[in-house]
Amino acid sequence: MTEQSPALDNLLTESRTFPPSDEFAGQANAKADLYATADADREQFWAGQAERLSWDTKWSQVLDWTNAPFAKWFVGGKLNVAYNCVDRHVESGHGDQVAIHWVGEPGDTRDITYAQLKDEVSKAANALSSLGVVAGDVVAIQLQMVPEAIFAMLACARIGALHSVVFGGFSPTALRARVDDAAAKIVITSDGQYRRGKAAPMKANVDEALQGAETVQKVIVVKRTGSDLEGETPWTDGRDLWWHELVDGQSPEHQPEAFDSEHPLFILYTSGTTGKPKGILHTSGGYLTQTAYTHNVVFDHKPGEDVYWCTADIGWITGHSYIVYGPLANRVTQVVYEGTPNTPHEGRHWEIIQKYKVSIYYTAPTLIRTFMKWGEDIPAKYDLSSLRVLGSVGEPINPEAWIWYREKIGANKTPVVDTWWQTETGAIMISPLPGVTAAKPGSAQRALPGISAKVVDDTGAEVPHGGGGYLVLDKPWPSMLRGVWGDEERFRDTYWSRFSDQGYYFAGDGAKYDGDGDIWLLGRVDDVMNVSGHRISTTEVESALVSHPTVAEAAVVGATDPTTGQGIVAFVILRGNAVDGGDDAVQELRNHVAKEIGPIAKPRQIMVVAELPKTRSGKIMRRLLRDVAENRQIGDVTTLADSSVMDLISSGLNSGKEE
Ligand code: PRX
Repeated sequence: MTEQSPALDNLLTESRTFPPSDEFAGQANAKADLYATADADREQFWAGQAERLSWDTKWSQVLDWTNAPFAKWFVGGKLNVAYNCVDRHVESGHGDQVAIHWVGEPGDTRDITYAQLKDEVSKAANALSSLGVVAGDVVAIQLQMVPEAIFAMLACARIGALHSVVFGGFSPTALRARVDDAAAKIVITSDGQYRRGKAAPMKANVDEALQGAETVQKVIVVKRTGSDLEGETPWTDGRDLWWHELVDGQSPEHQPEAFDSEHPLFILYTSGTTGKPKGILHTSGGYLTQTAYTHNVVFDHKPGEDVYWCTADIGWITGHSYIVYGPLANRVTQVVYEGTPNTPHEGRHWEIIQKYKVSIYYTAPTLIRTFMKWGEDIPAKYDLSSLRVLGSVGEPINPEAWIWYREKIGANKTPVVDTWWQTETGAIMISPLPGVTAAKPGSAQRALPGISAKVVDDTGAEVPHGGGGYLVLDKPWPSMLRGVWGDEERFRDTYWSRFSDQGYYFAGDGAKYDGDGDIWLLGRVDDVMNVSGHRISTTEVESALVSHPTVAEAAVVGATDPTTGQGIVAFVILRGNAVDGGDDAVQELRNHVAKEIGPIAKPRQIMVVAELPKTRSGKIMRRLLRDVAENRQIGDVTTLADSSVMDLISSGLNSGKEE
């Protein structure tokens, strides 16, 4: 553990603030007056942001909210999203600017200019069209962080097909569920990926997933590991095609077609409170407007000058909005890194920042805490003086981590922006503005200009300063989700029914105002866990556990974890005929969950118990299980049907600890 400065210890009682330097404030893209400008006329403000893009046909109306909760933004407008992210930069004379500095985990690199990106995206678009993919079709993409992932997403956007990117770490079962739900016609993947210094198969998992998948006509395979996985890439003749054989020979000329502003752009699945992931639907004009706007004002990005790096994976919304769409629309030069942060050594990120002179770095609190654990002497060995803005996303950032980030990575001078948003919001909603806000460690602070958020109580009334409650978004925003794929009822139920009288969007997060009215996020209020910034529902893990033949019942809770934010702790009752709950059985269950969902959902700990605490109506009292999982005194048990259950559980503990 690194040494902490004395200021850290009393942070929670002290309200230190970090205003930007005069120098930073003077050159910032967003100045303080942006809030007032947006408040004066919200629609006019968003129209101005949309004008930063290139439209084929201008909209006739900024917002149509008459059919709430289904918003229409920039009604009647037409644009091509890929053209906005690529071609227009070439046309404005920046074809030679590097769009992507790609760094492979083994150390190979590729610099891709905007002119090259245009060719690659056009060829991939022609390739998809040659396979019969048309506007409205769904293309599933399961790829690690290789340039082809970005080419493929933009190629879909270019021809109006929807992509559904599935995180590379998801299991065959999870991939299949997503392919079936969206009736994907094409799947794009790779032979294998480099991860922690080793080549691991990818295509083999995809093949397992697609057995009997009726909608899938073709599988396109990027060759990444090649001879390193000789003989481990199964092949189905007639269905499977190598990316390079299909794409490389295509024409680099492709005429982008303009699509309606509300044309669907992508589906991205995220965990909800039930076992079935939700396909969050995003559309074109509003989404691109807000991702580009926020990337411009929150990161203070200067095209052609900054070197930007967002460390997210393309399989999550952060990768979609802040690697692909927002940054490329703003003519970014960015680093895309394939691998893990400690391969081959724990200074890998700092080495990359030094090499490419990265000036804007956007990552997750879980990684910052991991860096803290590895020690401040590691970043201290590198020249990080190019950095000028640091960002955080995915979970609340604790003040200690925030201060460490600013001091050890940002030389105690860079603004740190803590950005709150969700897969559903599409883009950043609550965040400091780096040239304006006196930042408070641990608080996302205030809705961005043009965005409106409130903290309300159970009845929907706004709480006073100093009060806590639920976070809601009380006005529609351009990049808002347009629905849950194929499930209108779930869309209404999940987000719009809780505060239906007021018409508020319910985010599922607890929050409070401090005395200044700044917003502090307090974590989920539903049964969704946040593990290393990844959303996983308790029900999803429970379903995976009970699908194992030895398990009779399971209850899962998220317990506070010093590195990952929350860790998954499962309580299981074994079936009568299951032999015992020894270490092997527990290990097998952990592996089973990894197989069903993916390694990120593997419980940190599984406890085999004889009973679960339930109310008289049969509802599992997770609150009590959380007490056990966090080694706390067990709370009020008076509503339990059988109050001796908790004694039983507590006395049988410590089985099944993490290996
Ligand atoms: O609980 C909030 C947390 O992550 C959830 C959204 O997860 P996901 O859709 O996977 O998107 C993550 C990346 C945008 C939120 O409901 N969350 C995200 N950012 C923050 C956060 N919690 C606190 N502070 C944040 N900055």
